[in-house]
Amino acid sequence: MKPAPLLVCALVACCSILAEAAEPVTLKVGGVDKPISSDLFGVFFEDINYAADGGLYAELIQNRSFDYSPVERTDWSALSFWEVVRRDGGEGNVVLDLARPLHPNNPHYAVLEVGRVGGGVGLSNAGFDGVPVEAGKSYRVSFFAMPLYLDQRWGGRQANDKTPPHRLVARLESKDGRLLGETTFEVGGSKWRRVAGQIEANETDADARFVLLSETQGGIALDMISLFPADTFKGRENGLRRDLAETIADLHPKFVRFPGGCLVHGNGLPNMYRWKDTVGPIQERRSQPNLWGYHQTVGMGYFEYFQFCEDSGAKPMPIVPAAVSCQNSAHTGGAGQDGLRMEEMPAYIQELIDLVEWANGPPTTRWGAVRAAAGHPEPFGLEYLGVGNEDHITPEFEERFEMIYEALHDRCPEITVIGTVGPFPDGEDWEAGWQIANRLRVPIVDEHYYKPSGWFLENAGRYDAFDRSRSKVYVGEYAAHDHDRQSTLRSALAEAAYMTQLERNGDIVAMASYAPLLAKNGHTQWRPDLVYFDNSAVYPTINYYVQKLFGANSGDKLFELELPKSAKFYASAVLDSASGDAIVKIVNPTSEAIPLRLDLTALATSAKTAKVWTLAGEADATNPTSAQYRNRPVVEPEETTISIDESSPFTAPAHSLTVLRLAGRRS
Ligand code: AHR
Repeated sequence: MKPAPLLVCALVACCSILAEAAEPVTLKVGGVDKPISSDLFGVFFEDINYAADGGLYAELIQNRSFDYSPVERTDWSALSFWEVVRRDGGEGNVVLDLARPLHPNNPHYAVLEVGRVGGGVGLSNAGFDGVPVEAGKSYRVSFFAMPLYLDQRWGGRQANDKTPPHRLVARLESKDGRLLGETTFEVGGSKWRRVAGQIEANETDADARFVLLSETQGGIALDMISLFPADTFKGRENGLRRDLAETIADLHPKFVRFPGGCLVHGNGLPNMYRWKDTVGPIQERRSQPNLWGYHQTVGMGYFEYFQFCEDSGAKPMPIVPAAVSCQNSAHTGGAGQDGLRMEEMPAYIQELIDLVEWANGPPTTRWGAVRAAAGHPEPFGLEYLGVGNEDHITPEFEERFEMIYEALHDRCPEITVIGTVGPFPDGEDWEAGWQIANRLRVPIVDEHYYKPSGWFLENAGRYDAFDRSRSKVYVGEYAAHDHDRQSTLRSALAEAAYMTQLERNGDIVAMASYAPLLAKNGHTQWRPDLVYFDNSAVYPTINYYVQKLFGANSGDKLFELELPKSAKFYASAVLDSASGDAIVKIVNPTSEAIPLRLDLTALATSAKTAKVWTLAGEADATNPTSAQYRNRPVVEPEETTISIDESSPFTAPAHSLTVLRLAGRRS
């Protein structure tokens, strides 16, 4: 067995005397202790709080496929968020139809019936809280249209290849009808076809409308009416909102977990997130109710998730259902878990094996060809696959999990399976989940905890005593919950303190991700979140900066650290082998500044300076989370450079996280 590391940095609040605080405490960085996970810090992404639809997924039209339903919200229908527009004497209407759908997965469409053209008859959509447009920027419009008849419905001309086309105009307008940009289309024939164009906006308006008007007397079917900014993250079509995607990429995530969360196992079996429903042409994907009470278009589906990972330098970590639905499904109050029938299991297991082939197989394989057809012939290099999320550990769960696990283990040896141990850091599900993991030798298990800030400080030694011969841990969801579920500096530092311990135990803690990641103002189902946003701006919390500092300053080897048992701060020191940099992190959650002496002798560094980032302020400080608080001061890292020698004095300010980075360690 390996000797216990010299490091002793648990907070011992009770036995420290005030006089000690005035004396500098020596923090001695020693030699390399052990390798740690190089994938430690990543992100958790779930379409909760309108994180995807209306958020990261850059689609600006709400209910583009006319498939909203009262199952999602009792006051929603297939025509929600659309309004009929009749301009200057125009007469006509919009009705819904199911008769000739674009695809069976996309059943409803709208029929625009124009009796008298006047200034045009059509539909308008105000997007998700308005359509934000910027002067000088381009917007991609597309829709599917199927001409039905010309002139009038009864006695008019049936649309065919010889009848004249319908003329349509797509406009961006201000709320009061001012034109901000437009483009026109002519659509002939009598079959569904996709039409696409571009609108240049000549004004900035955060609350614009999209309007599609027909200027032809007759009937035309419309579906998948879509508007995207041309300027998406990395310029991808069907892409992501650039500012939000960049905010996530700036965290330097080593992995992205998706698509959840509880969204994965869904509200009942039919609502489970099935990856095959989310790939291929967007008009053929099966959109469905979101367990969080809105609509998931799955326009941001598996392909887009994998592409986002690649574009942000992160490894993909899909989480698939363990063939059981959420225990909280169907309004049962915790007893709603259903399992797929045993006769359905072989097909379900094959579906997961197909996922691995889709992600990693050459284009000559059946599913590799589907990926290649979407524009990605090279494999995505999938390594991690999570099976289950916070499931109630029942015999039904265990039986299905074991079947899936054994099949993946045997047939996809390149995949590291991540198991699940319930929603809490202890209790029945946690214990039963660990028993399964121990019995099956699951490589990694997913632990979750949403707890008060104090819990994170008190439990910072949680993994010190963990049995190193068992499964590794992925802390897949965690957040410190402060008063009123605010994202305060106090909660951010509690997480930072805990993260130093995750690094220190990075030999058995393989990965960790804060949750949830994104929240759209006015549409949140959960607080706190890491990043708030509206249509025009992004509001990172203080907790976001903690994640960013750890992400940008991660390492793959741990240094020994020596400090007195009575130390009131938390610390870790890592080596980033790629750059050769040594990184020391110090978290002082107390209200007193702590004078330190940094003993860096063992680093044998030639560096004379260190880059320092400090995140500090009042414990109750919070960053503005909406435009309303825009004038509030922002707590964000301050960057400085300090001189260092072999025993440098240094003060850890009250309520602070400090990250010191020493370039090019020589050993
Ligand atoms: O992160 C929000 C939710 O918290 C997740 O969907 C679920 O896994 C957990 O209970």
